[in-house]
Amino acid sequence: MPKITIKNLFNKTIITSSSNHNIFASIQKENIDWMHACGAKGRCTTCKFIVLDGLENISSETDKEIKFRNLNKLALNERLACQCSAIDDITILVPENGKMPHMKYSE
Ligand code: FES
Repeated sequence: MPKITIKNLFNKTIITSSSNHNIFASIQKENIDWMHACGAKGRCTTCKFIVLDGLENISSETDKEIKFRNLNKLALNERLACQCSAIDDITILVPENGKMPHMKYSE
């Protein structure tokens, strides 16, 4: 099963139960608070993460991600957690503007 490592959450690792689960669902299943202003419908970019390793191990971009990329709201190394799934191991980072005020993050 693919492993998601969140580097600046003290290297928290999540073993996804299915590659059909989007990354946001996998994160939620672990009870980790994660921004999702539009309710995980692909209409905002608050759930985005930065990919440090394994960009090729993430499912293809959705039309919604491509739309935000074309609007310069999603960099080439960023993906929307609610729109993609891990097909193999990845290491990600919570972006500064995605950090929850009540949570502690590491470097
Ligand atoms: S929660 Fe809004 S795009 Fe993912």
